[in-house]
Amino acid sequence: MKLWGGRFSKNTDQLTDDFNSSIRFDSRLYRHDIKGSIAHAKMLGRCGIITPEESDLICRTLEEILSDIENGHIEFDIEAEDIHMNIEKILISRIGDTGKKLHTGRSRNDQVALDIRMYLKDEIDSIKAMISGLITVLIKIAEKNLDTIMPGYTHLQRAQPVTFAHHIMAYVQMFSRDYDRLSDCFKRLDSMPLGSGALAGTTYNLDRSFVASELGFGSITENSIDAVSDRDFILELNSALAIAMMHLSRFCEEIILWCSHEFSFIELDDAYSTGSSIMPQKKNPDVAELIRGKTGKVYGNLMSLLTVMKGLPLAYNKDMQEDKEAIFDSVDTVKACLPVFTRMIETMTVRKDRMLAAAKGGFLNATDLADYLVKKGVPFRDSHYITGKIVAYCIENGKNIDDLSMNELKTFSDRFDEDVYKAVSLETCVNERKLPGGPASGSVYASILKIKDMYNIK
Ligand code: ARG
Repeated sequence: MKLWGGRFSKNTDQLTDDFNSSIRFDSRLYRHDIKGSIAHAKMLGRCGIITPEESDLICRTLEEILSDIENGHIEFDIEAEDIHMNIEKILISRIGDTGKKLHTGRSRNDQVALDIRMYLKDEIDSIKAMISGLITVLIKIAEKNLDTIMPGYTHLQRAQPVTFAHHIMAYVQMFSRDYDRLSDCFKRLDSMPLGSGALAGTTYNLDRSFVASELGFGSITENSIDAVSDRDFILELNSALAIAMMHLSRFCEEIILWCSHEFSFIELDDAYSTGSSIMPQKKNPDVAELIRGKTGKVYGNLMSLLTVMKGLPLAYNKDMQEDKEAIFDSVDTVKACLPVFTRMIETMTVRKDRMLAAAKGGFLNATDLADYLVKKGVPFRDSHYITGKIVAYCIENGKNIDDLSMNELKTFSDRFDEDVYKAVSLETCVNERKLPGGPASGSVYASILKIKDMYNIK
């Protein structure tokens, strides 16, 4: 018999049970469901809605059920539909009528809204810890590469010299914003919905604030209709995760390029690369490619969730059960990607020589040559034109700007002097860009210190 079977004269068809049931994927909420029920039962006892003895018995039995689930002694039942009714059914099978009192003043609608919030709060904490672990690793790499000159790119064309530390710190800024977005999302998620009932609250005099404080929520929800039909927090989390995956994916794209023979800026550790079944020489960046590939699923989940919600009248509709597989998959994907990505980055070898060699080609100091002439009184547009001519001359003659003799330089402008060579050296190009946020080692070090302070990195 179904827990809600009273008004029915027939059992549900097996097809309906299979189709309707969410236990296959929502069983992972068991711990949060039980914790929520314990807080609810305690509150029912304190408020005199059930007796203290009944409350104690329910709480004790729920604890036992929790440990039985954890020890693998319990098999869930499709017919009991979802995790909420499975646990209630087990409770009733163990303590009979007293168990039947647990659901007083509660609906599965506010129950599921509670469980998913509790579950996601924990997941946000664990993803934040993974992101701060990644940031710690990146900071260590940046500290070792403050003077490692590499080409900076626009349009994937060599543009201006930067340092590897500066490039890495760009990602640190992105991951730090991802971290903040998760903290922000947590704030809006941290509101306790029990007491909203099915949609219209309840006539029992429940102590909502007690339940909120038992469960560690910062506030209680303000509107019973909203509390059971809002899934913004899931959308918001999935968007934050989609953005974080986009950052990981861009980084992976660079790793894939950098470990190609053409760049050879880094070498991945054997432990984080794979071979080819046919080509014996191959060492492939599969981990980075998979992360780039998995990003699509997390975007797709966001689109599913937005679409599930877009046409739903208030309040609860069963469509909303579809939120779970999507957000669970996004959470699982991000949690699978972050640790392996972090280790892959931590163990890679940085080829400083290759980065420097690449920075020496491609006229990365052309802007600095133009700026040199500006400082000698040539208007920027003219100096840009003159420098363009010099670059064309270099290409034609197979030379770098630094290789040009003073005589050659003088044929383009009489403003050139011996100090030009220092002005266009890669070291000067980088270290004169010392505004806050620039690539000069002092500026990068200042932002390393800020991040170390924020994330408590030693
Ligand atoms: N398993 C359901 C879900 O995930 C729980 C809420 C069911 N409520 C209902 N009125 N059918 O959404």
